[in-house]
Parts: sequence; C-alpha cells; structure tokens
Amino acid sequence: MPTLHEIARTMVSDRRGILAADESVGTMSKRLEGVGVEPTEENRRRYRELLLTTAGLSDSISGAILSDETFRQELSDGTTFPAALAERGVLAGIKVDTGATPLAGAPDEKITEGLDGLRGRLEEYVDLGASFTKWRAVFSIGDGLPSARAIHANAHALARYAGLCQEAGLVPIVEPEVVMDGDHSLEACRRVTTTVLRAVFTELGLMEVRLDGIVLKPNMVVAGGGCAQQPAASEVAQSTVDTLRETVPPGVPGIAFLSGGQSPEEATANLAAMQEITPLPWELTYSFGRALVGPALETWQGSDDGWAAAQKALSERAVANASVR
Ligand code: 13P
Repeated sequence: MPTLHEIARTMVSDRRGILAADESVGTMSKRLEGVGVEPTEENRRRYRELLLTTAGLSDSISGAILSDETFRQELSDGTTFPAALAERGVLAGIKVDTGATPLAGAPDEKITEGLDGLRGRLEEYVDLGASFTKWRAVFSIGDGLPSARAIHANAHALARYAGLCQEAGLVPIVEPEVVMDGDHSLEACRRVTTTVLRAVFTELGLMEVRLDGIVLKPNMVVAGGGCAQQPAASEVAQSTVDTLRETVPPGVPGIAFLSGGQSPEEATANLAAMQEITPLPWELTYSFGRALVGPALETWQGSDDGWAAAQKALSERAVANASVR
C-alpha cells in the first residue's frame, strides 16, 4: 500500500496533472445544455466516458477527480469508472464536499458543506477504489469581502475534511479558490489569496494534518475578469509564486492549480511562465476543469461522430499543459 506521501507525489510529479471532471449533477447538466446536449444521466456518463478513455491520457494525467454519480457508473463495456482509471494508470479521486451554501448572516458569502457523515462516505469511496479526494472552498473579492468569518469558517472546514481523509488513507486535495469574478486588480487578488492561504495552513496545523500527504489546489493570482488592466503571463506567474512562497510550507509535495474561468490558452501560458521560475520547494502542476475539457465538450456536441475529434481536443490540451516544464 503506498503511503499518503507517495500518492501525493504521484499526483503532482513526472510532468503530469489532475483532470477535474467532478462537476456536480447540476453544473454538468448546465454545461451539457450549453452545447445543446440533453442533460440526462446517460449523457453525463457518456461525456465522462469520452474524456477518460482518451488514448494516452496517463502520459499527461496522473489522476482524475470524479463526482459521486460518475464514481458509481460504468463504461459501456461494464467496467466501473474507478476500475477503468486504474487499468489506464490514472488514480481515481472523488469530490466529497456537497457544495457551497450561503454563510449564516452573510448572504453574499458561502460556506462549503459536507462534513456530516463524511467518515462513513470516505470508507465507502475507499472500497470503490478512491486514492484521493477534493473539497472546494470559495471566496469572493468585493467591498469588505471576503470577511474574516468566511475565511475562518471555510479554512476550518477544509482542515476537518483533510484530517478525516488522511485518517481514511486518502490524500486530500485542499482547494481554497479566490474567484476571478469582479473588476479587482492583480494586487487585490494577491492580498486576499495570501490571507486565505495563511488561514488554511493555520487550520491544517491545528488539526495536525500531515502536510506531506496533501495536494494544494489554489487559484492563480490574476486580476478580476472585469479589470481593465489584464496582467501578462509573466506578472501572473511571479505574483502567484511570490504569494505561494510566503504562505505554503515547503513540506507540501505539490500545488495543482485550478483554471477558474481562464481560457485554455491563458491557463497554459500562465502555468508555463511559472515553470520558468526556479528553484521552488514544491512541484507545480495543473488540476484544470474548464481549461482542460472545455474544447472537448464543445467539439463533442453529444454526437458519436464528434467522439474522436473531442478526444483529440482533450489530448491536445493535456499534452500542452504537461509539456510546459
Ligand atoms: P476549473 O479549472 O474549471 O476552475 O475547475 C477546477 C475545479 O476543480 C473547480 O473545483
């Protein structure tokens, strides 16, 4: 049995990244509708089969994060998704939070839920073949936001989640996302990201989470989508790496970025620019959702005829991200 540290290292090493295909039923349904595909359980299953049976995926992808629905589904040949990933040399991960809801007394802010009953659910996911997990906390930048209570509550929940996962022998992906929505500057994103990451590592420490057995999944430090001054990739890279150096202990094996609404090309260029900054104490890689699978979804459009072209589109993005080092 590999140790938590060995699993975490596998997830972030050898130029490979983690594919985030764990959209909830609601989010995945919206994405399918967005490309004119009926949002049925079967179409969600077919789409995930398309992604995860792409030839050569394990050359660029170390792990795939699935949702509860997909984890229990099968490929057309009857193999379960976790078993299909194992056959292909890809670790199976499972999103275990149950989503973000308004924080009490702070309707503009969210708290991620899913701790109740988590210990039992984790045991079941281990039996189903999971090696790692994911929990996403979300922070918005705005007038007075994020508040101290939103930061504290979410950091605390992330740490409780991470502790339970390690107890179950699963590597937790710790995902505090400062979202890109708004017209804030790069500097504002840097300030908030610094505060959030400090709080997260304080709580992880209090909960005695083993830092060598986690993967951190943060946002890159970028300007808000509505900001007139969009920084170059070199600025994003330097600002992100500086922020991480200030906040992330060197014992963390690796950092796998979310894409957060950046275009596939932007996310790849920003990652490439970060790889040029050396030396760094941790591996830097990607755990993109939209920036990795978006072109494949648009190409597929739900038809069998688009299947091969969609797999090619995913493969191209994965190879582009894996070859930036
Ligand atoms: P994006 O890369 O689309 O932001 O998704 C990553 C993810 O896993 C969000 O929780």
